[in-house]
Amino acid sequence: MNDRYLRAVRREPVDRTPVWFMRQAGRSLPEFRAVRARASLIEITRDPALCAEVTLQPVRRLGVDAAILFADITTPLAGIGVAFDIEPGVGPVVEHPIASAADVARLRSFEPDEAVGPLLEAIGLIRAASPVPLIGFAGAPFTLACYLVEGGPSREFLRTKTLMHAEPAAWTALMDALVAMTIRYLGAQVAAGAHAVQLFDSWVGGLGPRDYERNVAPWMRRLFAGLAPLGVPTTHFGVGTAGLLGLQAEAGGDVIGLDWRIALADGWAAVGERAVQGNLDPALLLGPFETVAETACWILDQAGGRPGHIFNLGHGVLPETDPDDLCRLVDLVHEYATAPTPPFVTGSTR
Ligand code: CP3
Repeated sequence: MNDRYLRAVRREPVDRTPVWFMRQAGRSLPEFRAVRARASLIEITRDPALCAEVTLQPVRRLGVDAAILFADITTPLAGIGVAFDIEPGVGPVVEHPIASAADVARLRSFEPDEAVGPLLEAIGLIRAASPVPLIGFAGAPFTLACYLVEGGPSREFLRTKTLMHAEPAAWTALMDALVAMTIRYLGAQVAAGAHAVQLFDSWVGGLGPRDYERNVAPWMRRLFAGLAPLGVPTTHFGVGTAGLLGLQAEAGGDVIGLDWRIALADGWAAVGERAVQGNLDPALLLGPFETVAETACWILDQAGGRPGHIFNLGHGVLPETDPDDLCRLVDLVHEYATAPTPPFVTGSTR
């Protein structure tokens, strides 16, 4: 197996910088759209062979160094009794949003085999067939809470923040339930064969540092402590988190995800002795490839061949992205010389 990804996560030297893309499975790939024409996202996650197939599609086409399990962050929620749907072009919509401690008290405990049996079976199939490590994943508790409390997509997360501040007991109970669910969910993914796990805290950048420290970090700490016995590397990812990186790193994760709003070297300095993942703006892939190439080199220069850089976008692949450009980007990252260079100064160019 190609273990570049796992070596970089452990900050060991690598022959090439490993690269994979968040949201690499799905949306932008014609072969995924062909599958999607006959099966919904939820149906795919309940069909082991189909789920394994769409997970491996980007590995075959793009030549990336890791696979990510095909599922959604909302996938485990049915297992705690949350009814939701995924609306095309919108995202997850929760039928009865959570508004009180009584709503939280109605959540059930998560039983992996019952809740996501076929998905766990898919992991076994992927593990047997994949030439690269498989990353399992889950939504982080805050980001899941945003969906559960808002009921759907939101820009400001006002209901979620209000619950956090006005109903601290309900917030605590909700975080507690989501942490417990996530430890069991990721534990089951690892037992089924996932080599590493990533937590997507996609919406946490909506919080200020004080709120993060008080109302999210303690739960992330507890979550990472609960994952430690699994013995697999963990990635802690967020978007818009330039002001939170130090706190996120302190809360946990062998790898910290960086988005494009901070230069990689500055983000790396903020997280200290960790590996980092990132951080090309996915929007660049909608423009000329020259700009993608130039910016990718700028990012790789900042990593400067230090062990512990996993190349990725700063957020997920956009649906309009041309997969050929993703292939070219993978090749560029792999062909880039990774010999260590003198310390990088932000702003320098090749
Ligand atoms: O590589 C992959 O794409 C693996 C599968 C994957 C999906 N969702 C499938 C999906 C992963 C890793 C996710 C994570 C996810 N889902 C996140 C965290 C990452 C991020 O982008 O921040 C979040 C916030 C969601 C919530 C979500 N699910 C949204 C906002 C949407 C709608 C917009 C969109 O992404 O298309 C979804 C639906 C969804 N999840 C689709 C897919 C392939 C598209 C809908 C469909 O095909 O029915």
